[in-house]
Amino acid sequence: MTIKEFVAASKAALAEEISALERKPHLVIIQANDSPASDAYVRGKIKDCGEVGARATLCLLPPTVSEEELLAKVDEYNRDEDVDGLIVQLPLPKHISEAKVKLAVTPEKDVDGFHPLTTFIPCTPRGIIDYLTEEGFPFVGKNAVVLGRSEIVGKPMAKLLLSKHCNVTVLHSRTSEEDKAFYIAHADLIVVAIGKLGFLDNRFQYKKDAVIVDVGINRNEEGKLRGDAIPDLPVALQTPVPGGVGLLTRLALVKNLVIAAKNR
Ligand code: GUN
Repeated sequence: MTIKEFVAASKAALAEEISALERKPHLVIIQANDSPASDAYVRGKIKDCGEVGARATLCLLPPTVSEEELLAKVDEYNRDEDVDGLIVQLPLPKHISEAKVKLAVTPEKDVDGFHPLTTFIPCTPRGIIDYLTEEGFPFVGKNAVVLGRSEIVGKPMAKLLLSKHCNVTVLHSRTSEEDKAFYIAHADLIVVAIGKLGFLDNRFQYKKDAVIVDVGINRNEEGKLRGDAIPDLPVALQTPVPGGVGLLTRLALVKNLVIAAKNR
């Protein structure tokens, strides 16, 4: 099944699940940046909620908002009985502590899965695992390579793959080219999230039955969205950009929102 087909089928199932609930789940998104990329993400998240019959509210704050004011907003929505899920769109303006904001969102509503005490799986790793599971990827004992060690993708992805009994290797900016080539050549699954246009290319060797999951979102010289891998590498399955992991991330957010609403 392609990602688009998987997302469409999953949304239809979620719409049915939501229609059976007494209250429609309600997501609040706080955005305090004027980043066009965030605008696009946020529009996508609101559209997804609408499609499955959930409610979404955007709280747009000026990038000049103080940390205190932002934290006060978070607190207001934490207490609001009518709100099931609360996310603060990243990146935040430089004068605001991301760590403080992540800790401020109450774990019960933390559908991004960013709080240390959260019970929610962060959206990108969750979306990827759900899709690979649907595709029948046999996680147990497989060599999984995660490229990138960010807090929102690389680290939680590695943890989740470990829980699926993969042999997990995390590679990063300090890994030598030689070691990268070695691990990539032996990988059954490669999750690439380093933000470098076309980083995975034909200079590496791949297992022919390998799966490449491309989390990268980069602009090429023509301003078009492209991933961290060049298209059509010689592997069994490679997720596209656009139309790939971004859709899975948004789907996982709606799934987390429904869980949050049901937990109430
Ligand atoms: N910015 C980029 N990805 C994300 C995400 O998954 N959640 C939030 N809140 N901000 C982001």
